[in-house]
This record gives sequence, structure tokens and C-alpha cells, in this order.
Amino acid sequence: MDDNAYRYQQLEQWLLQGIIDGRWKLGDRLPSIRELCAQQDLSKATVQHALQRLEAQGLVDVRPKAGHFITLVPNATTPPRVMAKMEAPRSVNVSDLLLDIMGRSAAFDLLPELHAGDLPPGIVALNRAIGRALRRQRGADFQYYDSPAGDPALREQLGQMMAKRGWPVGVDELCITSGCQHALFLALLACCQRGDVVAVESPGFYGVLQLLEQLGLQVMEIPTSTATGMDIDALEEALARWNIRACVVSPAFATPGGALMSDVSRQRLMELADRYDLAVIEDDLYAESGFSKVPDTLKSLDENQRVIHCSSFSKVLSRDLRLGWISGARWHQRILHLKMVTQLASSRYLQQGVADYMKEGDLSAHLRRQRKVLRVQRDRLLASLHAWPVPVRVTVPQGGLAVWLELPDRVDTLAAYHRALAAGVVITPGPLFSASGEYANCLRISFAHPWDGRRIHALNRLPELLELA
Ligand SMILES: Cc1ncc(COP(=O)(O)O)c(C=O)c1O
Repeated sequence: MDDNAYRYQQLEQWLLQGIIDGRWKLGDRLPSIRELCAQQDLSKATVQHALQRLEAQGLVDVRPKAGHFITLVPNATTPPRVMAKMEAPRSVNVSDLLLDIMGRSAAFDLLPELHAGDLPPGIVALNRAIGRALRRQRGADFQYYDSPAGDPALREQLGQMMAKRGWPVGVDELCITSGCQHALFLALLACCQRGDVVAVESPGFYGVLQLLEQLGLQVMEIPTSTATGMDIDALEEALARWNIRACVVSPAFATPGGALMSDVSRQRLMELADRYDLAVIEDDLYAESGFSKVPDTLKSLDENQRVIHCSSFSKVLSRDLRLGWISGARWHQRILHLKMVTQLASSRYLQQGVADYMKEGDLSAHLRRQRKVLRVQRDRLLASLHAWPVPVRVTVPQGGLAVWLELPDRVDTLAAYHRALAAGVVITPGPLFSASGEYANCLRISFAHPWDGRRIHALNRLPELLELA
């Protein structure tokens, strides 16, 4: 990053934080370009660049000769009000309606059916690499299972990728899975027993709630900021009161709001894990999407073999690969055994194809392109939310695939789900992200797909379908 780029991004972040912290409120004017240049000791071009970027995200509006005005307030760093009071651990009961929503590709797309677009070059290269691996198969491969741990070449490549994120993991510490959901399943199965209490983020990933239900585990919902992740003070309070066995966290760009946990929170989490003998399950599958920085893994802080790292290629490369991985710390041997019991083995040619793809540098090239594309798609979404008839609070994530919206209290996103579906639009209602049905007035909107005509049309219909006007 050149020096100038670094400075405009710093100013952008500083202004953004000021808006989140309430230094400037909705409708307020930001300091003028001249004031910012003087205050921050920056050139006019740097200040203009930062303001332009806020404008592109729909956060500020330029009024000629008057200045830059706040038009959209990103979600505050405080946890949502509804979770201010923690509830005791309880069993999970995922409703049929929520299962229905998950069945629709978990509503990562506003459109209900598969919508074909041009294949990005990174996927063309991936398909070629897999095709080559398939053609290379020796005659007998089809009659043998791969080892439960998975293809060594793929694990080697993953090890190199993780080393760049502060965690030089050996091939023997990794096991290939069928996606991250499978990795999370193996992790919970390995470190918990029926009836145990598991702490999760709230709002957080619904897939984990489903797993807890199926495994007969109890959930302890921990208030979580959609900007800065799990509230570690609340976790500490919960650990002091209840006997919690494991904690599932997504430190890097968590769903639903793209929260990023600070280094201090990560460090404190690890201290608590040691103090309370906690298994920490790190769900890391969004990390590589970081627009300007890919954070280190939480696992890199794991001195006592208590972080089980879970991830996959689903969000940054292809959901259809169904390839993920797990590193099971002190539970790794048991995880290898459970992988064999639940899946026997993973497809050999798929793994080899992906390993070649990574070795050729194609994954890195794809990720570089993808991060730029996602950032543009995020900005486009934010700019469009700015035109909604009521002010909305929205996260401005620095990675991940979605923003989290807090709408006026009267809005019921579950009721709107049916209205929207009848109109050919799929939304992801807030209650999907908690075990207690909270967040009725919240919504996750993904920017994973390009904003073509049909999606823009669907997006523009949301205010009416949510009865906002
Ligand atoms: C946070 C999180 N973890 C895990 C998964 C499941 O990933 P996979 O498709 O690799 O099984 C998802 C999918 O939406 C997710 O959002």
C-alpha cells in the first residue's frame, strides 16, 4: 500500500468511527475539507479521496457549497439492546420456518432461483485445475478411499496459507472436511457431551444453532456487537456464572454483520479460555475476504492447544466444492476418527485439483480480484440503503459478504419474509441469527452477488415489502 493510500484509508476509518461513536449524528455536517486538512495534517487530495469513499458507501451526502452531511449511521459498537440482559443456558429449537429459509441457500441472494452470470476468471481456472486432476487419476483411484485426514498436497497448501496469518500449521495438524459446517460438527462432537453448554455469538451463525439442537447441547447466547464481535465482558460474566464447555466464535468478519474482533478482545478470550478450561471453536471461513487486510487467525494465539480452527473454501471460492478443513488441537486424533465415521473420506481428485490451483497462485489471484469486487458490491448496497425512506442503522464491514440492518422497532422481518417471497424476493430475517427469536426488526443483506438489474429491482422493493414507508 503506498503512503497516500494508507493515509486516506486511515482518515476514512477515523471519520467512520466518529460516526459510529456518535461524534457526528445523522444529518450533521462533517468538518470541511480545509478543517480536516489542517486538523489531520493531510493534503486536500487525501481528504477528498476519503470523503469520496464515504460518499460511495452512502454514508455522507455532498451539498454544493455547504459540505458533507451524514446520511446513514453505521451500527454502533455497543451490543444490540435486546441482548443487554443475558439469559440462562437453554436447549435449542430451530423452527421449520427457519429451516425453510436456510434451505433457500440461506438467502445469500435476494433472488429465489439460481441466477446464472458470467464465470469469474478464478472459477474458470479452478474448473480447469479440477478437470486436469480428474484426467490424471490413475486407474485404481476410484476403488479406494482417501485417508481420513485428506490429500497431503492440499494440507500442505493450506499450511502455507495459514502461515501468512501467524499460524505455521503442520500437515499432520490438519484434516480435510466436507465444508465448514461439517468441521463445526466434528469440533462440537469432539469437545462436548450431550447436555453441555456452548457459548455462541448473538446475533450469530444459525448453522451453529442447528448443530447444537441436533447434538443435544445447550446454548448460551453472548451479546455480540455486529461491528467488534463477541462482548468479552459478557462472556466473562457468563463463564463465572455457568459451567460453559465450549465457545464458538467468528473473530474475522462474522456473519451477520461482518464484525472484526480486536487484538485485545482476542487476547482476553484466550486468557478466559485458559482460566475456565474452555474449548474455543474458531469459525474462520470469511477471513480471506478482508478487503484491505486478512487478519491473523485466533489459532495463532493458542498456546495451550484449546482452539479448534474450522474453515472452508465456501465463501471465498466456491460453495459447491464442499471442501473445508479443521485443526483440532488437543482433540485432533478424535476428530480424525469422527471424520472417518461421518464421511469416510473426501473426494481425492477435487482435493488435488484445489491443491494445484493454490500451488499455481490462482487462489491468491482470485482472492485479490474478489476482494475488490466485494468492496464495490458492498458500497453499491450501502449507497442504495441510503435512499430508503426511513433512516437505517447498518454495519460497514471491512470483509465478509453481508451487512446487518437495524430497522425501526415496529418492523417485523419474519412477517415480511412471506410477503417478500410471494413477490419473488428472498430476505434473511433477524430472528434467524438467535436461538431466542430476537432481532425481529433486523435484517441481513448480502452483497455476495453482482447488483445486476434484477437484484437492484429486488433491493429497491424491500422498503415497500418491509412496510417501511
Ligand atoms: C459463519 C459460517 N460458518 C459456516 C458456514 C458453513 O460453511 P460451509 O458451506 O463451508 O459448510 C457458513 C455458511 O453460511 C457460515 O456463514
